[in-house]
Amino acid sequence: MNLLQRFSDAFLKDINLGVLLINLDYQLADISDRACQMLALEREHILNKSLDDIFATVPSQHQLVQRSLLNGAIVRNHAVSWTNNQERFDLLLDSSVLKDSQGNIVGAYVIFKDVTNMRSLEQMVQRSDRLAMIGQIAAGTAHEIRNPLTSIKGFLQVFRRAFGERDMCKEQNFTDVMLEEIDRINALVNEFLLLSKPRHVAYEPILVSEVLRGMVPIIHNEAILYNVQLHYEASCHVPEVIADNELLKQVFLNVCKNGIEAMPDGGVLTISERVDTIERNVCVDIHDTGSGIPMFVIDKIFDPFFTTKDTGTGLGLSVCQRIIHDMGGTIRVGSKGFGTTFTISIPYT
Ligand SMILES: Nc1ncnc2c1ncn2[C@@H]1O[C@H](COP(=O)(O)OP(=O)(O)OP(=O)(O)O)[C@@H](O)[C@H]1O
Ligand SMILES: [Mg+2]
Repeated sequence: MNLLQRFSDAFLKDINLGVLLINLDYQLADISDRACQMLALEREHILNKSLDDIFATVPSQHQLVQRSLLNGAIVRNHAVSWTNNQERFDLLLDSSVLKDSQGNIVGAYVIFKDVTNMRSLEQMVQRSDRLAMIGQIAAGTAHEIRNPLTSIKGFLQVFRRAFGERDMCKEQNFTDVMLEEIDRINALVNEFLLLSKPRHVAYEPILVSEVLRGMVPIIHNEAILYNVQLHYEASCHVPEVIADNELLKQVFLNVCKNGIEAMPDGGVLTISERVDTIERNVCVDIHDTGSGIPMFVIDKIFDPFFTTKDTGTGLGLSVCQRIIHDMGGTIRVGSKGFGTTFTISIPYT
């Protein structure tokens, strides 16, 4: 083998690269192992078959290659999303023609790289940029909203008492409604402020089990409303993590609430703890048997204001993510087939 042959051989065997070689009849002349794996194809079944047949089920706008490739169309750094049965890949693709020594086109090649992790990193950076901006706006306006609310609330309480003394029940009920609504606005503003920068954060060694045990009655109350069963699977010898008790509660509550809300016809919410000794994390899995999250939604659920609920703010998960990231942890979601699992991982020392 000469050097050139060795080089092309190495190219096809490279575990990071997807390579397709295409002949003039638009048939697959060769394919690398990694490409087979990413595209979920079996080499023996597709060699020397027409690419039109191999990718017959893929809509034309999602095709990796077009026949025009053989006419000399050069593609550089083309980003494509590819979903095989199990996984989604973000691919960065180059393609061009192969010519013989006279300059006649004899075939074409396609090379692609899996950039899924890079893409999600990029998205994370964009997301935190956007969060920082929202945070700045929020911090500026939140206080301006809260101050007038405090005086409105104060005077309403005076009215309420006055109505009570005069037996004006109807009016008293109106003020009750108004006070409740003000509390809701306040809660929303507080959530906004958390987005900007959590105040009074008190990091201390904490046992996640203890936080969860304290939460179970509250989550249980919420679950009953939705006819949902709650299972809590504690684990022994879980090490302490450095975290803020109140913020951690907020995270568990938000994620559990989402799980419960995803099961309007009842179901089971399972909270389980485990220790990941390899990554040195304490992990809490929160699983629901709800409808699951569709593929096209799952990328957006951590975005601020993304909601599919009529009365949702869409801030729940973005606040959770912020809190957990600040503790050095991660929050991940898996939704395959039946139900959804959120995994919250917090590092221990
Ligand atoms: N367990 C789940 N099952 C199905 N979908 C979910 C689940 N958790 C989150 N989602 C989806 O993610 C979206 C965003 O969730 P997030 O908690 O950020 O906001 P929200 O629940 O819509 O509003 P809020 O938390 O302010 O009430 C939800 O609207 C829902 O579509
Ligand atoms: Mg929510």
